[in-house]
Amino acid sequence: MKNIRIGLFGFGCVGQGLYETLNNSKNFSGEIKKICIKNPDKPRSLDNNLFTTQADRILNDSAIDVIVELIDDAEAALDIVTRALKNGKSVVTANKKMVAENLSYLVDLQASTGAALLYEGAVCGSIPIIRTLEEYFGHEPLNEIKGIFNGSTNYILTKVFEENLDYKTALSQAQSLGFAESDPTLDVKGFDAKYKLSILLTHAFGIHVPPAQIVNLGIDHIKPADLEYAREKGFGIKLIAQAKRIHDRVYAFVTPQFIKSDHSLHNVKNEFNAVTLNGEFCDDQLFIGKGAGSLPTGAAVLSDVSALSYDYRYEYKKHYNLGKLPFSNDSLLEVYVSFDNPHEIDLEDFESIHHKYFSFDHSYVIGKMCINHLLDGKWLNNPKNNIVLCANGTESSLGSLCVKALNAEIEELKKGQELLEKITV
Ligand code: HSE
Repeated sequence: MKNIRIGLFGFGCVGQGLYETLNNSKNFSGEIKKICIKNPDKPRSLDNNLFTTQADRILNDSAIDVIVELIDDAEAALDIVTRALKNGKSVVTANKKMVAENLSYLVDLQASTGAALLYEGAVCGSIPIIRTLEEYFGHEPLNEIKGIFNGSTNYILTKVFEENLDYKTALSQAQSLGFAESDPTLDVKGFDAKYKLSILLTHAFGIHVPPAQIVNLGIDHIKPADLEYAREKGFGIKLIAQAKRIHDRVYAFVTPQFIKSDHSLHNVKNEFNAVTLNGEFCDDQLFIGKGAGSLPTGAAVLSDVSALSYDYRYEYKKHYNLGKLPFSNDSLLEVYVSFDNPHEIDLEDFESIHHKYFSFDHSYVIGKMCINHLLDGKWLNNPKNNIVLCANGTESSLGSLCVKALNAEIEELKKGQELLEKITV
């Protein structure tokens, strides 16, 4: 193994994790030569000479072999990665937003410059899912990839569900443990999991789907009554990222889901992530590991740096070799929608309604809704609505095309709403 000299951008939670894993690895041959940081006044645990605020001192240093980009800002990260690849230097990054939003461009840039970009640490922390998809599943058609892709929300849901901790306390614990993004709305609203899902769509199905085309519902609207409903039914609630190939179309979305107690994802707790996949030949597989935190993510970055020492690169086999599978949001999901005020929900968006319950402190409707409708801001942004996917709802619904809503059911529900409104007034 050749000795690798690293130029590092960012020395936050993951950067420090890389430093520690690198120094405690018994057989890694390499060193961090320079670290570029934004704030020179911040007290640092290492010698000041190791730090610089000048990106060019790293990017133009011919003695540096590999650039490791671990900063928060996706735009600045893209600039660093672009300049490094154009300079012929290979790069490791853990910036999922930057990779997901620019993957087409980054694949082409690697091909034209000959330099490699690896990003295992960007998806599910320490679970080596990208390399597994690239190498082991490079030639096997996959039917589904699904899992818990965000450590912070899994930590929060575990604490809220099992220890009755309030949401705010659980979130601030996730922040102080270094799991959450510096803007935690990216975690709790499902954006972080969506970036990871978008990246995996490329490695699992060979397609690039910009994150803006994928629906993401978060956990921040879940109310105590929803937790109670789940408990009564024997379900857990998990934030699930899911992609499924049906009749050679791919569907993908991030939503909270009710998970039955005998499901393999039910017992994945705290900051652990899990990926389940179903392949045409291998059938079901399950991968579990820590998805957030300094050392687990630092270790994933170190593994990428080490892979570069033997000239490893992603081949994007499915992207280059397969006919392009179309991505679609034209499919039904079975959803549970709870709400405070009947006027807050638009029943016309349901294709069919299976169950409804109105009361003073907890009202909900269960029915089928098209993914396209869920992308609409009125569903995503209204804090009074909470939407959770029903247990197994996706299995039966995905793949059925959206048709017009059933008018009779809606009329009946509207009457129920009016009645509740009269009682409330
Ligand atoms: N905020 C992310 C999470 C960090 O909680 O999963 C790891 O990507």
